[in-house]
Amino acid sequence: MPEKARVGVLISGRGSNMAALLYASRLGDCPYEIVLVAANDPQAPGLKLAAGEGIATFGLSHLGMKRAAFDAIITAELERAGVTHVALAGYMRLLSPEFVAHWQGRCLNIHPSLLPKHKGLHTHQAVLDAGETETGCTIHIVTPELDDGPILGQARIAVLPRDTPETLATRVQYAEHQLYPRVLADFVTANTRPEALLARVRELALALPAAAEKRSHGSPGFYVEGGKFFAYFTDNHHGDGITALLLKVSGLDEAAMLIEQDDSRYFRPKYFGPAGWVGIKLTDGPDWAAIEAMMAAAWRLCAPKRLAMLPI
Ligand code: GAR
Repeated sequence: MPEKARVGVLISGRGSNMAALLYASRLGDCPYEIVLVAANDPQAPGLKLAAGEGIATFGLSHLGMKRAAFDAIITAELERAGVTHVALAGYMRLLSPEFVAHWQGRCLNIHPSLLPKHKGLHTHQAVLDAGETETGCTIHIVTPELDDGPILGQARIAVLPRDTPETLATRVQYAEHQLYPRVLADFVTANTRPEALLARVRELALALPAAAEKRSHGSPGFYVEGGKFFAYFTDNHHGDGITALLLKVSGLDEAAMLIEQDDSRYFRPKYFGPAGWVGIKLTDGPDWAAIEAMMAAAWRLCAPKRLAMLPI
């Protein structure tokens, strides 16, 4: 089981989305845990809720502080808690460029509209003023622009004839509480899902000269045209529960040496005979630089002579 993502949640008020993330994190095999809840208002009710659930909290008023200085303190607290991902959940503060850059690609925000519609404040009033028949909520990756950035998920709700900003806010929040935990779980596992791992393996393999892909033994295999297979991607092959890259190595000795070096990462693939293959587990933070070098060596072992001479 890969380690769970360590999420820091930033709030300004009630923290109902934070609570939704927290309680979802306690269900079954949720891939993230909440390790810190921080607020720019020490009185934010959500801090009490989190503390009551045994979660570390940090509350500090931003009043009278420069934005960048305040954000630097928040980043330091998040780092101290070992946070890997940040979830903004009703955090009503513009972020400094420094904060956004520090957490680039690891910070999500929830906004109570179907972005790109109705960015900024007073969203529900804007939805009513515009005569919308539906609204909803959006989770997106945080970028320097407010309520911008790649959209990861949306949930839609109907706007009803007698809706007010308050009734809309309530129903949008019901939807938010469903959406945020799911999108966050998908986001933190995006790089460890088999499809993503295969995509990375494929990219590295097909970048090698005359490399091509063909299914073999029920798995995507990579070979050198006019030569042999040098790599396979296997996912739960013969029900072994492992997502791995199998690479040709120079012989049994090299395979044995790698396994002896690190048997949590390398293994002897079943059904691959004594020809000199090693399995590399991919789900626990693969070392892609090492894999790239090993893949090039595997390619060279399998390439016809005229190609194997090429510098790669
Ligand atoms: C949520 O509805 C969230 O979408 C909104 O604040 C509310 C916080 O509620 N966020 C924004 O408006 C951000 N611009 P909560 O504290 O109960 O989660």
